[in-house]
Amino acid sequence: MNDYLQTVEAVYAEAAKTPDAELCCTQSPVWRLPDLKIPERMLAMNYGCGSTVHPRDIHEGATVLYVGVGGGLEALQFAYLTRRPGSVLAVDPVAEMREQARINLEEAARLNSWFQTDFVRLLDGDAFHLPAENNSVSVVAQNCLFNIFTTGDLQRALGEVFRVLRIGGLFSTCDPVTPVPLPESLADDERLRARCISGCLTIDAYLGALTDAGFGRIEVRSRSPYRYLHPREYPLLKEPILLESIEAAAYKVPDGFDGPEILTGRTAIYFGDQPSFTDQSGTVLRRGIPQEVSDAAAARLQKHPDIFLTPSTWHSKGTACC
Ligand SMILES: C[S@@+](CC[C@H](N)C(=O)[O-])C[C@H]1O[C@@H](n2cnc3c(N)ncnc32)[C@H](O)[C@@H]1O
Repeated sequence: MNDYLQTVEAVYAEAAKTPDAELCCTQSPVWRLPDLKIPERMLAMNYGCGSTVHPRDIHEGATVLYVGVGGGLEALQFAYLTRRPGSVLAVDPVAEMREQARINLEEAARLNSWFQTDFVRLLDGDAFHLPAENNSVSVVAQNCLFNIFTTGDLQRALGEVFRVLRIGGLFSTCDPVTPVPLPESLADDERLRARCISGCLTIDAYLGALTDAGFGRIEVRSRSPYRYLHPREYPLLKEPILLESIEAAAYKVPDGFDGPEILTGRTAIYFGDQPSFTDQSGTVLRRGIPQEVSDAAAARLQKHPDIFLTPSTWHSKGTACC
């Protein structure tokens, strides 16, 4: 195993024993759902930087493979939606983390009459060897883990996710991103990397890693401030850097007309003389009605004199035509 991965495991073994409010981002949202009570210790171990759980993603009979269980918060939230024995498989290589997640899930079963601990299966494993057959899983999720990986390891981890997902399956992912590449000296700091500070990519590189892995459609669902790195605290930096975290949904589907579809919340509005606009790509725009489009489709449609394009909101609704 690479040295930095050993450091990562040591950091999370410690964070399993003693909840660490500074680790990753404890500001990430905790869904308030009817009859969902979250154990205090599980909340204190919220080591995500956003959310990968969205009710609209979970269809009847869905199986979720969750990579990097932490205290089990998102595994419990997914189980709230799936409610079947073994419907959430949660993989983590750190024994202390799996054990604390098990204890937290037992407490969750005491607090929530609908929840059975066997809804979530805790498995020893890692992001590079997922315990699932090819094309077998409907949803894979990870929150604030993949940013820790070096470029080669990120490619391997994304390759594994892509391998196990069914055609049409969803990878729900959340990580910090940086506006400019971070200095190598900072990225080489294993503890900062493990603590989700120094391994992150630019948003373009992050989305590029997803499309390179084969995902044909990516919705950026949220983008929000994550950390302000100031040279006072990080002397290796010349300027302050605002890290953001993004939530994205990547689908194992073929590319669209313009190549991989990246949706950042842009819309196209046709204001011409006809009731609607149609082109050879299959794009249909009804006059006056905003239609979400991918960034590539927006670039193509921008050339049309009767179409107005709105800027990225970074909150895609996943309703894009193209
Ligand atoms: C930043 S925490 C995120 C935990 C959880 N996703 C959450 O949102 O609270 C990273 C998690 O990944 C686990 N982990 C570390 N190395 C891993 C690897 N190579 N493969 C899978 N999980 C790993 C850690 O033990 C820890 O539980």
